[in-house]
Amino acid sequence: MSRKRSWAEPYKIKMVEPVFMTTLEDREKFIKEAGYNTFLLRSRDVYIDLLTDSGTSAMSDRQWAGIMMGDEAYAGSENFYHLESTIQDYYGYKFVVPTHQGRGAEHLISQILIKKGDFIPGNMYFTTTRLHQELAGGTFVDVIIDEAHDSESNFPFKGNIDLNKLENLIKEKGADKIPYVSIATTVNMAGGQPISMANLKEVRALTNKYDIKIVHDMTRVAENAYMIKLLEDGYADKPVAEIIKEICSLTDAATMSSKKDALVSIGGFLAINDEDVFAEARNLVVVYEGLHTYGGMAGRDMEALAIGITESVQDDHIRARVGQVRYLGEKLLDAGIPIVNPIGTHGIFIDAKKFLPHLSQDMFPAQTLAAEIYIDSGVRAMERGVVSAGRNKETGEHNYPNLELVRLTIPRRVYTQAHMDVIAESVQYVHERRDQINGLKMVFEPKYLRFFQARFEKL
Ligand code: F0G
Repeated sequence: MSRKRSWAEPYKIKMVEPVFMTTLEDREKFIKEAGYNTFLLRSRDVYIDLLTDSGTSAMSDRQWAGIMMGDEAYAGSENFYHLESTIQDYYGYKFVVPTHQGRGAEHLISQILIKKGDFIPGNMYFTTTRLHQELAGGTFVDVIIDEAHDSESNFPFKGNIDLNKLENLIKEKGADKIPYVSIATTVNMAGGQPISMANLKEVRALTNKYDIKIVHDMTRVAENAYMIKLLEDGYADKPVAEIIKEICSLTDAATMSSKKDALVSIGGFLAINDEDVFAEARNLVVVYEGLHTYGGMAGRDMEALAIGITESVQDDHIRARVGQVRYLGEKLLDAGIPIVNPIGTHGIFIDAKKFLPHLSQDMFPAQTLAAEIYIDSGVRAMERGVVSAGRNKETGEHNYPNLELVRLTIPRRVYTQAHMDVIAESVQYVHERRDQINGLKMVFEPKYLRFFQARFEKL
């Protein structure tokens, strides 16, 4: 007879941070004061914080011990050398430039590689990545497979590049107008979807043919590697660490927001194989981030990051991390909540168009739904729809993405299964009374990355 064997997290809790429940009246007042934008809420008014998995993970006792070993020298900190060798060992890139977080690295590589009038194809945009490409004079072109824009498609590798779209772009614009292809592992805006190794190899072959680089946004590479292990032929018996190295070996440079996979609150880096590009980045980092041996990070932060990288690639860690997200996703699917399929690796993405079909995209359904979930239970989610997509830089019109999503992003090693149950019940309750929910109108719109600071009023 086969016995059921549940899995549990590969750690026990040594320190806790209290959180507080508020009243419904309080939350109605707080969200109104925040302009119905969950980014503008105070954290103390949030019960379960699913705004992001960025910088919100729990560090291990080893990482905290590393904090005490910070070598806060302005130049040549011991922790930098530890970080540099860890990145070389675990990811295989040759050269490392530390930055304060992911967008610092995006800024450097965009300024170095992109010329005015260039095109940068990618597997869907990310907000900061695309903005840095545009600020450097480039135009982002989405060449992800069509399935990625369809929340119902169950295709397992929705992060894949459509090779026809990519090759047509190269032929239309000319290879000299395409400095690199931008590949994210996993694709955040598609719902935390992985790219397959087979697809990445094909992209490598195609870019080699035209002598085009690949820049890898490796923010959630361990999660992507785990999905390859689960789903792709030939990888079931390979350690996640080995799969990560193989992914990195197919690319020329990488930007990293260490605030996700790598289990720290702040930090990032640019990793590069080309010595000339490295020389430029090492010089430019001094202007925007700090000296090339700290790049905006304290020594202690670099130490915690080096240790976090080694923990992030462990199979038992990543299985529990992705497993917890899937637990929540399956609960929501069982309750009939429309979410992006398949379940992503860092969060659950609710399809707000299907959840609130009576609201047009001009009424900001995802923004509305995130506010309603907060009002119901103090769970803070994030809009990933028309507000995040911003405006077309030529016409000034809203970009209307197919995917109008609310992201319930799960921090690593922070919440328990009981928290997941509370979240699922709240979403279910809001779903039951969805007919009574009205939309929002935007009353303040900042120029850059408007989703962070835009304000709304109820219609
Ligand atoms: N690339 C991806 C795929 C990201 O998800 C992020 C950040 C960045 C780059 C930028 O890194 O924040 O360190 O400057 N994503 C966060 C999120 C903000 O909530 O998804 P950063």
